[in-house]
Amino acid sequence: MSDASSGAIDSVLQEQRVFPPPMEFSKSAHVHSIDEYRQMYKESIENPEAFWGKMAEQLHWFKKWDRVLDWKPPFAKWFVGGKLNVSYNCLDLQIERGNGDKAAILWEGEPVGGMPGTGGAVHRISYQQLRDMVCRFANGLKSLGVKKGDRVTIYMPMVPEAAVAMLGCARIGAAHSVIFGGFSSQAIADRVEDAQSDIIITADGGFRRGQIVPLKQNVDDALTKTNRVRKVIVLERVGATPERPHKIQWVEGRDVWWHELVQKQSTECPAEPMDAEDTLFVLYTSGSTGKPKGILHTTGGFLLGVQSTSKYVFDLRPDDVYWCSADVGWITGHSYVVYGLLSNGATTLMYEGAPNFPDFSRFWSLIERHRVTIFYTAPTAIRAFMRAGREFVDRHDLRSLRLLGTVGEPINPEAWMWYRDVVGHGRCPIVDTWWQTETGMIMITPLPGATPTKPGTATLPFFGVDAAIVDRSGKEMAANQGGLLVIRKPWPAMLRGIFNDPDRYQKQYWSDVPNMYFTGDGARRDQDGYFWIMGRVDDVINVSGHRLGTMEIESALVAHPSVAEAAVVGMPHEMKGQGIAAFVTLDADKTPNEELKKELINWVGKQIGSLAKPDQIRFAEALPKTRSGKIMRRLLKELATNGQVAGDVTTLEDYSVLAKLRDKEES
Ligand code: WTA
Repeated sequence: MSDASSGAIDSVLQEQRVFPPPMEFSKSAHVHSIDEYRQMYKESIENPEAFWGKMAEQLHWFKKWDRVLDWKPPFAKWFVGGKLNVSYNCLDLQIERGNGDKAAILWEGEPVGGMPGTGGAVHRISYQQLRDMVCRFANGLKSLGVKKGDRVTIYMPMVPEAAVAMLGCARIGAAHSVIFGGFSSQAIADRVEDAQSDIIITADGGFRRGQIVPLKQNVDDALTKTNRVRKVIVLERVGATPERPHKIQWVEGRDVWWHELVQKQSTECPAEPMDAEDTLFVLYTSGSTGKPKGILHTTGGFLLGVQSTSKYVFDLRPDDVYWCSADVGWITGHSYVVYGLLSNGATTLMYEGAPNFPDFSRFWSLIERHRVTIFYTAPTAIRAFMRAGREFVDRHDLRSLRLLGTVGEPINPEAWMWYRDVVGHGRCPIVDTWWQTETGMIMITPLPGATPTKPGTATLPFFGVDAAIVDRSGKEMAANQGGLLVIRKPWPAMLRGIFNDPDRYQKQYWSDVPNMYFTGDGARRDQDGYFWIMGRVDDVINVSGHRLGTMEIESALVAHPSVAEAAVVGMPHEMKGQGIAAFVTLDADKTPNEELKKELINWVGKQIGSLAKPDQIRFAEALPKTRSGKIMRRLLKELATNGQVAGDVTTLEDYSVLAKLRDKEES
């Protein structure tokens, strides 16, 4: 038997294994048994208003809501008439509850000093200190003229000030638009324009894998492409040393140092009472068409969704040290680094840098030194650790861990088992959590004290989430039949729309399957009702847990002066989950060569960000098309998946014969 087929059989055997929640864990968990979960789930579905109304009492409201839900499909309003402030809930409320001295944020910088294994600079910020920082920064924003309803762009490294910036916006009612620090200047300019944002908060740089990420320079470059921005607030993160003088440019009148801005500000800034349906933030994410869209999240429903899921899915207890390794530039960072954790009065750890700096033991060393109890990361990271070898893990004392989680992409059973055995020593339950930028909160997940788990499945829906597998007409599929993953009822943290494009919301999410929210994912439900997510069935690809649109990469490619046409498809990738394959035709006077290939890869990096760089570029005579002129994507997907690139990788491949054979099938 070949290695590959025995691997597949192992995988099937592993999928059939069931791990009941450890008894010790269940005893003190918020939900103790699967029966208790089922009872609560039933109530939440039968009477969502009563269920969520009761849950919402855990939040602080300046004014209580008149109605829990106003549902005019597909438009939902939650906690109509209610007034609250997210930063008040994340800070003041926790201090009132006696947690003023408790650590809100623990932070570790990437550069390691001195002794090996000692880690980087560490900051501990209590709830009281964080409140002071947020108030001073919020007053600073006000002094620059930022008002309720404005959009503020945040392009920062993973430092506590990124959370301070977000909470500062929330305090005064400005919506933030956080852009991941790995995106390019073009991507910043596009988002600033779309969000109509005239303030950017950034840093002089950030540390990543021993290098300095030139954040301020990227902002400066972006601002040559748009003139909308009037103020740039700059945090001094990397600073200047005699060996490494400051390299950033400074535009007088536009650029403002963070420390100078907050210096004279008061530590009191009243929290703006926000309507439950006022915008909290916009977050850009890739879809199947055009440029990334600004997903709109509001105040009350979002906060309740992330507060309640954090509490139940991570089974938070007062002395937990929680660490989610996601960047605040992604939804996971919004919901489960900042808002969900602080609104529960938990301690959230932030780490600035790369998992493998200075080597693959960094994460385990962080867990050991900070006594992390809950660890939440992406399957891609787990696969990278598996490949690096367990010796990096085994060197560290990970006995503080009690719960492990994954997010962002399907986890293969092998990686799940490795995570469980090598990292969790078989003691820690694993929560494989399925959700999206649009859902705002975790939607399908085990509850660690209640749900028996199986490697590779996100298991059962969270309270109030009416998830189903259906066909295009909305008819539910039988057990184990693959279909479309939909949500049939509104949930509190659901997106309220797409910024700047009100018509698109209905069309994009509520039209493929009549009257249901279509996720874009394919999945099946097994005989126990467990959801097995198969991945995207639209033109979105998931590279290392990051979402990219094939159209977005195609547009970047055709913007290159040598490219005539481009088609981009996802292909299976052992480490990244999916890789990117680009099929390219050139202008008549251009010839394919290795250099051009590299140039195109870097070009995409410049247009979007390094995460979008194709793994494969294949030059073609012509792209295979149907008689009606549609690119045969399925054929290209198969080629990218199975077909090896023929001998000389720069020769033009001729797909016309294949195209003719397929024409009938796909047209
Ligand atoms: C995928 C990330 C399988 C899915 C929070 C979804 C997953 C997309 C899982 C959303 C999981 C996320 N198992 N697939 N546990 N979690 N996905 O918006 O395809 O960056 O549609 O949100 O990631 O990606 P997004």
